Amino acid sequence: MKALVLSGGQGTRLRPMTLGRSKQLIPVANRPVLHYVLQNIADAGIKETIVVIGEDGRQIRDYVGNGARWGLAVTYVQQRKPLGLAHAVLTAREKLGEASFLMYLGDNLLPNGIAQYLRVFQEKRPDALVLVHPVTNPQSFGIAKLVDSRVVEVLEKPTDPPSNLALIGVYFFSPKIHESIARITPSARGELEITDAIQDLLSRGGQVEAERVCGPWHDTGQANDLLAANKTMLLKLEHKIEGHIDPCSTISGPVQISAGTVVVNSRICGPAIIGEDCALYNSFIGPFTAVQKGTRLIDTAVCDSIILAGCRLENVPLLNHSILGENTELTTSPRSQPGWQLLTADHTRLSVPV
Ligand code: G1P
Repeated sequence: MKALVLSGGQGTRLRPMTLGRSKQLIPVANRPVLHYVLQNIADAGIKETIVVIGEDGRQIRDYVGNGARWGLAVTYVQQRKPLGLAHAVLTAREKLGEASFLMYLGDNLLPNGIAQYLRVFQEKRPDALVLVHPVTNPQSFGIAKLVDSRVVEVLEKPTDPPSNLALIGVYFFSPKIHESIARITPSARGELEITDAIQDLLSRGGQVEAERVCGPWHDTGQANDLLAANKTMLLKLEHKIEGHIDPCSTISGPVQISAGTVVVNSRICGPAIIGEDCALYNSFIGPFTAVQKGTRLIDTAVCDSIILAGCRLENVPLLNHSILGENTELTTSPRSQPGWQLLTADHTRLSVPV
């Protein structure tokens, strides 16, 4: 059994964050989403992992390396353009050989792991096993129609969905899928859809099984989903204080504070995680906040947010439900200079209360 992790894709719905960073490397609870993907693969007992990267896959390579950190043996293939999930499989065809494989989208988060589903695949030995989860917007996903646990039809982003069960980004395939991929043609969006390949498998009499995901699942392709994923992972946090907390500060709930961080006259209500070498003065950190290393908060309140490394926030009355890229500076302007003063990146999004 091999694993194929798809980490190409341009992450257009997460701009400007994804202009300088692959979406799989955006942190939730201070760790890249891709970390949890690789950890799940390792925990399921799979070693040989092929990572599909896009044109600018350098960051992914730098982060994952040879996979030894997770006990994996990682190699790479480059997909010259994001031409679809089935196209990614085609790109890795040689490396996959005649092995069965797990295909895992590198931006999908399953906090309860995937080992239980791999066991089902290995026991039932179907031609494919897909994971499904009910969604409220089935028009935005690949959708499966089931009879008991058996898939009878799959459709990519149907206008008239036959069910609300979305194919999430985790699939188990026997090598039979390669014949189906060879038979399909690009969809209306110009991509070779894995959903079409699964439908081809079905129409050739293949056995496709479905397992419903127990517990949460997040497709972290958009800001709200990232914040929800951050929440889910912070709920699993163990309390651990390594930094320095002065006697005028209070800490409640599960909170992790890394070495080199100082907290002065501040209040932190977990679940929250603060990375290394941060400084908090007269500030408030509310639940579901993750702050990466080297960030300074002065006279500031933050809730339900993801703050990447090296930020500086001063006199910010309340930052809520936000994601800040590395080295962001947020301050309030003195009364002598009314109005907003911004220096933004392309595609910046701002929403302030009126
Ligand atoms: C892709 C698949 C879709 C699946 C989804 C899960 O969609 O094509 O079938 O339901 O991933 O995240 P995309 O993210 O390319 O729109």
